[in-house]
Amino acid sequence: MPEQKPENAQPVPEKDTQIFDLNAEDVKQAMAVCGKIIQDGGTVVFPTETVYGLGANALSTDAVAQIYAAKGRPGDNPLIVHIYDTAQLKDLVAEVPDKAKKLADAYWPGPLTMIMKRSDKIPDSVTAGLDTVGIRFPSHPMAHAFLEASDRPVAAPSANISGRPSPTKGQHVLEDMLGKVDAILIADESDVGLESTVIDMTTEPPTVYRPGGITVEDIKAVIGEVAVSPGAVKPVELKEVRSPGMKYRHYAPKGKMVIARGSLDEMADKINEGIRKLHPDQKGAILATDETLDRYHKGIILSLGSRKDPSEMSHKLFDCLRAFDDLGATDIFAEDIPVTNDTLALINRLYKAAGYTFI
Ligand code: TXA
Ligand code: MG
Repeated sequence: MPEQKPENAQPVPEKDTQIFDLNAEDVKQAMAVCGKIIQDGGTVVFPTETVYGLGANALSTDAVAQIYAAKGRPGDNPLIVHIYDTAQLKDLVAEVPDKAKKLADAYWPGPLTMIMKRSDKIPDSVTAGLDTVGIRFPSHPMAHAFLEASDRPVAAPSANISGRPSPTKGQHVLEDMLGKVDAILIADESDVGLESTVIDMTTEPPTVYRPGGITVEDIKAVIGEVAVSPGAVKPVELKEVRSPGMKYRHYAPKGKMVIARGSLDEMADKINEGIRKLHPDQKGAILATDETLDRYHKGIILSLGSRKDPSEMSHKLFDCLRAFDDLGATDIFAEDIPVTNDTLALINRLYKAAGYTFI
């Protein structure tokens, strides 16, 4: 598929962004303003339980073009459409397969995106020309209030500049989107911290393209057999790519990142050695865990949390990657984490951030 940018991707017009702090302001008033912005064809960043989303009316080609422009996103990477009521599905998809109904009953609202055959109402710019569309019903109460006020299906990618780690805090959103969108709704830190699970319901068995908060075992428990795209934990050849988002370098900090492999001792030795060998003008950083923090003494050292707590590590990953940027890290050494059902999403993002580079 040719990589193309929409013609209006550059330059991005400066916008006078309205900011609403939902912990301090009148929520109803904020939602009324932001709902109207969506109806008028504008863009609004809103909180979800996974990461912040950059939303626009999914049924308007012009509104959707503004999303690609604000993010600098390639036009061949499709967007997820967000709903607040399953009754909206009938306008968006050609049919809801039985297994999709079962998963919706079990995990919606929640961090699960299901790909289904699209309806004619969805513009090509949302699906990047594919005959399928990804639908998500988020569980965050503020996402629900915003979608209800918009009274439209809302197309929304993660609200980061394309290629940067997804935003999990208001501060991340302000860094990336101030002046590029019409409004920003700020709530607390995103709970899950990694983007939703993306599963293609048009294949048999259904295929997980992007692991996320609803795990492969969660899905198997409801619909039985599930395929997992090989891209979940290893680089994929372009010809193997079924989900366009898998081929882009994602979640990347500005510094060069590598993953150290081996036992805890071997990882610590490799990382300490790597830090020692840096030139004085390089700024080394280490992504450790609570259990291994005391093995490191030199460089910028952050902990992802406890190795026993995959949810905590997932919740903190993108914030740590952004912190490395803020601290000027040029060379980042991360410890590997064992792959289990509960760490698959975390590992997927970690390896992508490192461009699958291992020491
Ligand atoms: O948690 C989330 O899903 C967040 C929040 C804001 O809801 N959204 C999000 O969107 O992560 P985005 O655009 O950053 O990632 C969407 C992913 C991309 O990898 C894209 O290629 C894939 O889903 N995708 C979307 N529609 C697809 C389709 N019809 N077929 C295959 N892959 C699709
Ligand atoms: Mg994204």
